[in-house]
Amino acid sequence: MNILILGSGGREHAIAWKIKQSNSVNKLFLAPGNAGTKEVAENLSISPSNFDDVAKTIKAHKIGMLIVGPEAPLVDGIVDFLKQQKDLKDLLIIGPSEAGAMLEGSKEFAKKFMAEFGVPTARYQSFQKDTLEQGYAFLEELKPPYVLKADGLAAGKGVLILNELQDAKVELKNMLLDQKFGEASSNVVIEEFLDGIEMSVFVLTDGKNYRILPEAKDYKRVGEGDTGLNTGGMGAVSPVPFADKTLMNKIEEKVVKPSIRGLEARQIDYCGFLFIGLMIVNGEPYVIEYNVRMGDPETEVVMPRIKSDLFEHLKACSEGNLENEKVVFSDEAATTVMLVSGGYPEAYEKNKEMSGFEQVGDCILFHAGTKKENGKVLTNGGRVIAITALGENFKDALAKSYRNADRILFEGKYFRKDIGFDLMSN
Ligand code: AMP
Ligand code: GLY
Repeated sequence: MNILILGSGGREHAIAWKIKQSNSVNKLFLAPGNAGTKEVAENLSISPSNFDDVAKTIKAHKIGMLIVGPEAPLVDGIVDFLKQQKDLKDLLIIGPSEAGAMLEGSKEFAKKFMAEFGVPTARYQSFQKDTLEQGYAFLEELKPPYVLKADGLAAGKGVLILNELQDAKVELKNMLLDQKFGEASSNVVIEEFLDGIEMSVFVLTDGKNYRILPEAKDYKRVGEGDTGLNTGGMGAVSPVPFADKTLMNKIEEKVVKPSIRGLEARQIDYCGFLFIGLMIVNGEPYVIEYNVRMGDPETEVVMPRIKSDLFEHLKACSEGNLENEKVVFSDEAATTVMLVSGGYPEAYEKNKEMSGFEQVGDCILFHAGTKKENGKVLTNGGRVIAITALGENFKDALAKSYRNADRILFEGKYFRKDIGFDLMSN
């Protein structure tokens, strides 16, 4: 079967790398892809947000399965659009409908969904322009720190955590009255701060059945010791050492099952990945957020730990047969270290020539912000390349990731030297 993956990050490169290993995959395409995906697939220069172009490409290249990597086209309804095309009736699509994508597209929708189906989450209320005063009053009821979330998609920037009540009030006003995050913050969810340890769980679901994939932990802050600005993710590890059988069972019973039951009860058309961001507080899981796609850079450690055939799992999922699939994981530890452009997540320069590829060994490179021009690999984004390694344990895997992080060179290169630092006793 021919496959098209939409997106251009490390996540999409990792999915491409994994799916390419299936004997059932014929031609693999990425749109738009990056310099790394060019090595395993054919890059097509179309934008995932241009649905007409995507439909034309699917027909032109006789695509049998479409995998949607990022959230934006899902929230904008690409799945519903393609399902309405009469000549694409046989297309298998991995990605939820617009209704399902609301779990990520609207924080308030997600909170109401969790409340209805008994999924544990932080206490919250939501506010608009005309209820700003009530928002101030709710903040006064809460203890610091204060968590403010723009309801809509804000390119990963819509969450503010503030220590001072006065600052929280000012930011609430900025979000509601001054559109700090544009339309996304015309509705703001204020929620209780959860003090615990974060981890991510990934589920493949057809909206009724589900399979839990390897769990992961990502490192979102730019600075060592989890300091500085939030980024898209500076590194990740899988498995998560503290996620023992007892905790994983609790997560399945208290979070995964009721979430899938909710999709079914609401008759939401959902075939794809559900990424559940969790805070573990005193051994109990609470949902921080749902994402309707895989995580990045978590995918770069999740995919290498899946031993079974991802294509077969996805095919079964899109045919509603997931209950017959057995997902097999490797016991190895996987780590990934993200090399980023100097300055990221604030302003940074692109088009820096990358070198050192021929020195690299014993790791898997997943390209993110890279492009190929005149035979040269150039940086093309903030997060440039993820260096994944597998090992018997974290120490072993991290040593390989870091050895190779030193070998890839480009001007302004930066990476965190302490990925997994908090888990090292394991
Ligand atoms: P999000 O953009 O929803 O992933 O949120 C960004 C980060 O904010 C999360 O990864 C958490 O570290 C933090 N966060 C979000 N909600 C809460 C909460 N209720 N309590 C504590 N931390 C939170
Ligand atoms: N690494 C977090 C995310 O993909 O949203």
